[in-house]
Amino acid sequence: MRQAGRYLPEYRALREAAASFLELCYTPELAVEIALQPVRRFGLDAAILFSDILVVPDALGCGVRFEEGSGPRLAPVRTKPDLVRLRLAELQERLAPVYAAVRQLRERLPENTALIGFAGAPWTVAAYMVEGETSKEFAQARTLAQREPALFGGLIELLTEATTAHLLAQIEAGAQVVQLFDSWAGVLPEPEFVRWCQQPAARIVAALKAARPDVPVIAFPRGAGALYPAYQAAVAADGLGLDTGVPLDWARHALPGVCLQGNLDPVALLVGGRTMLAEAERIVAALAGRHFVFNLGHGVLPETDPASVAALIDFIKSLAPERA
Ligand code: CP3
Repeated sequence: MRQAGRYLPEYRALREAAASFLELCYTPELAVEIALQPVRRFGLDAAILFSDILVVPDALGCGVRFEEGSGPRLAPVRTKPDLVRLRLAELQERLAPVYAAVRQLRERLPENTALIGFAGAPWTVAAYMVEGETSKEFAQARTLAQREPALFGGLIELLTEATTAHLLAQIEAGAQVVQLFDSWAGVLPEPEFVRWCQQPAARIVAALKAARPDVPVIAFPRGAGALYPAYQAAVAADGLGLDTGVPLDWARHALPGVCLQGNLDPVALLVGGRTMLAEAERIVAALAGRHFVFNLGHGVLPETDPASVAALIDFIKSLAPERA
């Protein structure tokens, strides 16, 4: 999940000095420094690239901006002319600074600290592209998907190719694991979840596996609920990110084999203290004996005290001293 960010004063200092959020993403020296900040502070087992899922629509020509306080703004994609304007050909060239950051990070991280690359899944990225901003329901994206499935399918197709290329370029640059974030998978009914989340993820994972079978892929269909098992059967990810709502006794049985990742409530981390540690202990106990990556069920909230993050990591490491 997000490790860097506004809860760290050293991030806020760099953010205030920069002209924009995207300048941080596109300046390798800054992106590398930000990715290293939490690793330095907490001694994490893995580092995640500092970037954003919306660099892909930006590179396709959507003109992404992040506005203070109100989140991302994109030129909306809602018609055929909007779609045909997007350009896949320049993607890797335009995202070259991201791959430079990956290369520099891999050089600067301790050898036993894994580097995770990532991308947004096609549905989640398409949802932002259609809406033009963030949303609670993504009603415009869902409406377009139902009203004009051929047009929406063209966008998903383009994003499936772009996402695969973007993840492969990160792997070539030194990412040792990649994660696919489908943050808004949970707003779709089953048939559309299968069509817009599951099938594209299956294609992306198959393409990555064909090219680089050695690189683990983590899929995170947030909010998939009872659809997680069918998703995993189709996608065959190496790791599955569980959101905060997934019951672990159920996941243990319903999702055999795959490495599970999750799922502490970011609010428990915000609350901190014994409440947080009791929750962390419950999660670790529920998944004992499974291949398991301890993580949050979603991103760190900006109001979180970094001291709580440190206490949580110390606690987890005390349970697994061989990885400490
Ligand atoms: O830990 C890390 O360093 C990872 C970096 C990372 C960011 N975004 C940086 C970021 C990752 C993995 C993401 C993924 C991402 N981005 C997702 C998927 C994960 C999730 O949270 O569901 C999504 C949906 C986005 C899109 C996005 N980026 C939104 C909607 C926003 C605005 C909301 C917000 O939190 O401010 C962002 C901005 C963003 N991306 C910030 C960071 C650190 C905050 C920017 C700032 O104000 O400084």
